Amino acid sequence: MAKEKYLVTSALPYANGDLHIGHIAGAYLPADIFVRFQKLLGNDVIYICGTDEHGAPISIKAEQENVPPRKIVDKYHKRIKSAFDGLDIQFENFSGTDRKVHYKLSQNFFSDLNKNGFIQTHTNEQLYCENCNRFLPDRYVEGECPFCHSEGARGDQCDSCGKLIDAIQLTNPLCITCRSTPIIRETTNWFLNLPKFSDKLQKWIESKTEWKDNVKKFILNWLKSGLKERAITRDLNWGIPVPTENTDGKVLYVWFEAPIGYISSTIEWSEKIGKPEKWRDYWFDKNTKLIHFIGKDNIPFHTIIWPAMLMGQDKKYILPDDVPANEYLNLEKNKISTSKNYAVWINEYLEEFSEIPLRYYLAANAPENKDTDFVWKEFQEKYNTDLANTFGNFVNRVLKFSDKHFEHTIPLPQKISNKNEEILTNISDIREKIKQLYQTFKVRKACKMIIDLARFGNQYFDNTIPWKTIKTDRKSTAEMMFICGEIIRNLAIVIYPIIPSSSKKLWKMLGFDKSILKYGWNGLSAKSDKPIIIQNIETLFEKIPDDLIERQVNKLKNLNNIPQKTSGKKIISFETFQKLDLRIAKIIAAEKVKKADKLLKLQISIGSITKQIIAGIAKNYSPKELIGKNILILNNLEPAIIKGEKSEAMLLAVVDGENLSLLIPEKEIPEGSKVL
Ligand code: MF3
Ligand code: ZN
Repeated sequence: MAKEKYLVTSALPYANGDLHIGHIAGAYLPADIFVRFQKLLGNDVIYICGTDEHGAPISIKAEQENVPPRKIVDKYHKRIKSAFDGLDIQFENFSGTDRKVHYKLSQNFFSDLNKNGFIQTHTNEQLYCENCNRFLPDRYVEGECPFCHSEGARGDQCDSCGKLIDAIQLTNPLCITCRSTPIIRETTNWFLNLPKFSDKLQKWIESKTEWKDNVKKFILNWLKSGLKERAITRDLNWGIPVPTENTDGKVLYVWFEAPIGYISSTIEWSEKIGKPEKWRDYWFDKNTKLIHFIGKDNIPFHTIIWPAMLMGQDKKYILPDDVPANEYLNLEKNKISTSKNYAVWINEYLEEFSEIPLRYYLAANAPENKDTDFVWKEFQEKYNTDLANTFGNFVNRVLKFSDKHFEHTIPLPQKISNKNEEILTNISDIREKIKQLYQTFKVRKACKMIIDLARFGNQYFDNTIPWKTIKTDRKSTAEMMFICGEIIRNLAIVIYPIIPSSSKKLWKMLGFDKSILKYGWNGLSAKSDKPIIIQNIETLFEKIPDDLIERQVNKLKNLNNIPQKTSGKKIISFETFQKLDLRIAKIIAAEKVKKADKLLKLQISIGSITKQIIAGIAKNYSPKELIGKNILILNNLEPAIIKGEKSEAMLLAVVDGENLSLLIPEKEIPEGSKVL
């Protein structure tokens, strides 16, 4: 089979802070797993990344610490790289965007777009802080999101609804440096004419039938609501100069140049390996699949702006083949917050644990389709149960037993019974399924199948009772051991992308002469044809003790000011509140709903109109006692059909476990009255 070619990237992390588990779960571990899987298949794959070193995120940090931006960049580049090393996340190249190759390429990108008529200047209004004496680009301002109205939205993007914002659209903007209210002033900036790409983008996206729903939905919505020109320069003194005239005090917008870092980092890699033209084999070859791993907040940049930038170049760059964006990881039910120090920082984590449990837990609990939660206790349990007790235990008992009874080998059997042949076929089916899952970024399910296979191995061992049969039937015991050995050989390889160091350790115990990557997925398809010579048997997974976990939990508890999980979303504006039509209604009739023991059908009167409601209160109220009561309802809720009955409003009640109480006004009040 012909080799496939992949160019894999992960979002370039800002060099303004440390990495935490949320970053890893979103963009880095899934990519590392995918890359390692492709390497096992024998495909041609490179994994490219680097730090994002410009823009307001860096200059703000530098101002806060009162040092030059370059110092911040150097410091965090190193810290970020060592966190990746510690987690065994391996790139072909890890560059940075404040390097020469990157300047040159970014300016070329701008010049091509300009020459091809995709860039215009506009004099527009910008926020200006009179106190700080400067224009306030995006992240220097915060305020209320104009779309979802949550507080604390940044000037470039709202964390709650994910929409991109123009700082000037913020309601009640504030300068983040001095907290004063900025004024509006005119300035000239360069704009990328996105509307010119609309049709091309639309066609391109529509061809991406395999993309994740969340990603496609987001883009199609955005296209539907109409693309607008976007400023790609900023009034800032840290960044890449705009390569044209009259650009004093302006640099390329960080989100314009950062993705170009994917290319400049590939060029740097080519030079490092002494093949300076090699990057072209990836970026200009239609057969290369370009995969961008990102967190969901980066979707707009990678699926609209960046592809448009690529489309507008003279050279024919490939476009992203897939953008498997992940949702967010929360921490112990709350939102991770770097500013509040509410996070599990990778460098700190690595002082106490190896990379193995984190890689495993974040893979098994990956936020692939919905936000997931990191819970320390679950982290411990998941690892102890799945890896130590199931996977590790199976390997250990098989190797020890076979080592003892079959002269340090897992023997080859003389014949294989039909039942055991069936098991071998099953194993190869499971392996195919796991392969499909890895290929389509479904790592959670892959984890589950792998542990299920190990669990099956344990049951097989228990049910075949080799410790008894060895005394009477050495031949059939050898056959059982062979089956167990096949399961282990498969497990070692299929777990490799997730926890490569454990997989290699196991591989060593099995004494194969080819390295695991050389042997690869293809080596799995044939049955073992030589006995396995068992080497030194070591414990694969040491259990994580309770006290270690308790310490971590306490660390988090000791932080005051823990952020709320949906902080932004919980706050609604008064305007939103006013949309709720809350009223008092009188119950005029009530009866049970047939075949639904929790439901009552109520007729209610709200002033001059009557409505029907289906309410789940039959366990707490009898129809009779309800009639005549004044209750609180939400009047303008979308009607629904419940158990075949129409429900035209919603009754409001307080619930405490089994207990449920209607909300009844304390004084006589006419039905239909509005709640304010
Ligand atoms: N630094 C950005 C972030 O952390 C991601 C940049 S991705 C790139 O959100 F494509 F622009 F590189
Ligand atoms: Zn200010």
